[in-house]
Amino acid sequence: MTVRILKDEKAVARAVAARVIATLAATPAAVLGLPTGRTPVQLYARLRAAHAAGRVDFAQATTFNLDEFLGLPADHPASYRAFMETHLFGHVNLSRHRIHFLNGAAPDPVAECARYEAAIRRAGGIDLQILGIGANGHIGFNEPAAGLIGDSHLARLAPGTRRSNSDLFGGRVRAVPPNALSMGVGTILRSRAVVLVATGAGKADAIAATVEGLVTTRVPASLLQLHEAVEVVVDQAAAAGLTRR
Ligand code: F6R
Repeated sequence: MTVRILKDEKAVARAVAARVIATLAATPAAVLGLPTGRTPVQLYARLRAAHAAGRVDFAQATTFNLDEFLGLPADHPASYRAFMETHLFGHVNLSRHRIHFLNGAAPDPVAECARYEAAIRRAGGIDLQILGIGANGHIGFNEPAAGLIGDSHLARLAPGTRRSNSDLFGGRVRAVPPNALSMGVGTILRSRAVVLVATGAGKADAIAATVEGLVTTRVPASLLQLHEAVEVVVDQAAAAGLTRR
């Protein structure tokens, strides 16, 4: 793992946007894995601006998002798909048929997850997977547990994860679906390169455990230590728990 500690959230967004832009410049048909959440909001704003300025072209790119709430159709305003439309997809020249999402409203979640894995394989795998991290160390919706499921699967959300997503549901924690479909840690680890992004003091413990702790399914992001091409990009606040700098 390489760790880049930058001044603040703005610098983190700038650095990760530069990485995406460089990836697409070198490989216009790159396959990107994308997160939702608060962390990538500034990243997507920068990518929108770069696209408007003609500095990045998504015409040949393919995207796969990490996760979606179970039971929400793509057009539900609180869906992750709707989030992506608002923050990125609605503003750049991605081809609609190369945008991939787990369908939270699929009648058969198991078949839906198998379909997603096959689609990722058919696309040639993920070239660059961008990840956020939960305060509990989750990546995607792979929550801390005694064991983790490798491939995309139906996942139960930890109570804290439902709380941190409640803004999407008008602040009502109980309105946040208890389950989601998510890429598994195996899906993530099969990506050719991974960028893990974290900002703010609330992520400091999770980042310390991910980078300097034992590899354990109790901190799902720590499994990224097993991958040879992971860059952790954090601001000063999220780096506060690191002892080796
Ligand atoms: C979202 C996802 C989650 C988030 C994580 C951090 O697609 O997979 O793992 O990346 O919960 O969320 P924020 O950025 O809101 O702190």
